[in-house]
Amino acid sequence: MFTTFRGGQSGGWRVTSISPVKGDPLPFMPALSVVSSEAIALPLVPSRNSWRLVGVASHLRYTERAEKEKLLAVQAGLGRVEATCAALIPIRKTAAWWDLTPEERRAIFEDKSHHIASSMRFLPAIARQLYHCRDLGEPFDFLTWFEYSPAHASLFEELVAMLRTTEEWRYVEHEIDVRLVREVLTP
Ligand code: HEM
Repeated sequence: MFTTFRGGQSGGWRVTSISPVKGDPLPFMPALSVVSSEAIALPLVPSRNSWRLVGVASHLRYTERAEKEKLLAVQAGLGRVEATCAALIPIRKTAAWWDLTPEERRAIFEDKSHHIASSMRFLPAIARQLYHCRDLGEPFDFLTWFEYSPAHASLFEELVAMLRTTEEWRYVEHEIDVRLVREVLTP
């Protein structure tokens, strides 16, 4: 199952900002649509009024059994009515990261950076889904997606600021931060 994030002129989410954190920017588009499908829909012609990023919700690479159980016990799912804010953060890591073995990557990700242990306290306020796209020939390795209520907006800022200071983030070479609010349909 592929998930396509299409920045363009219409969609269920209104884009409030697109900030390049590291590397090339992504053009501003006023709206974002998120669609799941069994095949990747290729754009027929390159468009200047849209872009699209595709990823796959995949299996866990680094999470250990005890961590997985803790996460499952506290995390919230996507689509909560009160979670009207969202963030799409596409990330690409360096060749040096991908040259490491899985054990070396896990050591940096968790033993040194505490990605899971330190993020746990942001649950269930922040709901999340990780999509992988490195093997799809996409410009990013990961598309990270988060949903939260406006009351938790500053909590989300705290979370991203914390992760960006970790050793893991030294291996991030391209990162864009797209912020969104759910489009309200007027009758
Ligand atoms: C809500 C708090 C968060 C929790 C509980 C959390 C948890 C996790 C877990 C468990 C994994 C490992 C998945 C695996 O085993 O393969 C992971 C991976 C990842 N997370 Fe988070 N995360 C959080 C927030 C964030 C944020 C805010 C970002 C981006 C700014 C982020 C970016 C990533 C990336 C890029 C990966 C993939 C790392 C890799 O495979 O190299 N996470 N996260």
